[in-house]
Amino acid sequence: MLIRRCAILLIEPRERLDFDFPSLLEGGDGLRAEREWIALAPHLDGEVTLGVAELTPLGAIPVHSWMEFDAAAAEHDATVLRTLLGKGLLIGATSEYSEFRKRDDALRDTHWHAPAAVAHAFSRWQGVAAGEPLRGIGITSVADLVEKLGNPPPHFGERALAGRRQALTRPSPGVIDTLLRRRATCRNYDLARRVPFSTFSHLLHRAFGAQAVHEVTAEAAIVKKTSPSAGGLHPTEAYLLVQGVEDVAIGLYHYHAGEHALEPMQSLTTPAARELANRFLAQQDWFANAHAIVVLAPRFRRNFWKYRNHAKAYRAVTLDVGHLSQTLQISATEFGLGAFVTSAINEIDIERTLGLEPMQECPLAICGFGWRAVERVHTEFDPLRAVWSE
Ligand SMILES: Cc1cc2nc3c(=O)[nH]c(=O)nc-3n(C[C@H](O)[C@H](O)[C@H](O)COP(=O)(O)O)c2cc1C
Repeated sequence: MLIRRCAILLIEPRERLDFDFPSLLEGGDGLRAEREWIALAPHLDGEVTLGVAELTPLGAIPVHSWMEFDAAAAEHDATVLRTLLGKGLLIGATSEYSEFRKRDDALRDTHWHAPAAVAHAFSRWQGVAAGEPLRGIGITSVADLVEKLGNPPPHFGERALAGRRQALTRPSPGVIDTLLRRRATCRNYDLARRVPFSTFSHLLHRAFGAQAVHEVTAEAAIVKKTSPSAGGLHPTEAYLLVQGVEDVAIGLYHYHAGEHALEPMQSLTTPAARELANRFLAQQDWFANAHAIVVLAPRFRRNFWKYRNHAKAYRAVTLDVGHLSQTLQISATEFGLGAFVTSAINEIDIERTLGLEPMQECPLAICGFGWRAVERVHTEFDPLRAVWSE
């Protein structure tokens, strides 16, 4: 059998601190340190703990070429090699290992920069309830944070003494200033009202729709949108969970940016939509009743087609998503709606629900919009009194 090492692998020497009551009784610090080797391989579903004996073969087996198992076994313990094949860190050419091989091949074909792939794969959540860990240690406000953590770094950066600063003119606000000052993250929605179909359509077209298509060849085109995109590639897809829009059935959709149309994926009942919204949004129920929830999921391969194994590519893709979100939020504000963005999302749950292939197309953020509620139940940051009069 031919074998090779998986394409992307980082090994972390990790130290875990556990509470140790006996050590406390003996006058120690009450902590026990456990050290272990952790393999972070993005084609696998999770982290893998390694034995010390497994480190050497992982460093010695080739990544870009295949070698005979027997030749490797002449240098390394055959049992250790088989364990690594079973863990999916060595890839076997036979059908027994085809699932790992398929995933490893897909990762190779996508042209990820290795550290970015690891950072991305292992920062995805499944079934997380955001906010719970902080609430569990008694932190519910910024004042609590200051009390527990001390002061944050200064709120303004300074690089010169006051006397050396050159004062700039204070602008008189124009239309865009006024609009920008009216934007405030909305955490209070009124699902009893429906967002008009025309407003919904306008928002999607403005934020995510193709404004022009420049065909380079029959198969290759560059799309113009209202936000910038690294390399002009616009890899980010918008998936929608709609639960409060006139003439749109409650359910999951993909937005076709070229056709400016909704592609139905799954219809949902009202409670099922709310449950899914909460799951997607890591139980942030203050966002889960927005009328339209938009999952922003880049197709990495489209960006990495140009920026192959590029150190800046993943960063560029995340910046693309930020621009799209801002365009959506400003547009929603203009139409009198509230809007939000969050990166505290359960990516793995979303991938499974939408049928996205991990490491190929993955949600990086969720934004959403809808009618603001009359009453403010959840906190909003509105020191300009642009939304709430008190
Ligand atoms: C990348 C990003 C992630 C955010 N994540 C969350 C979040 O998980 N939960 C939340 O309630 N707000 C989230 N927000 C909203 C911020 O809390 C909000 O922007 C900030 O408090 C400033 O308020 P403003 O947007 O009203 O100016 C996020 C904002 C950004 C840009």
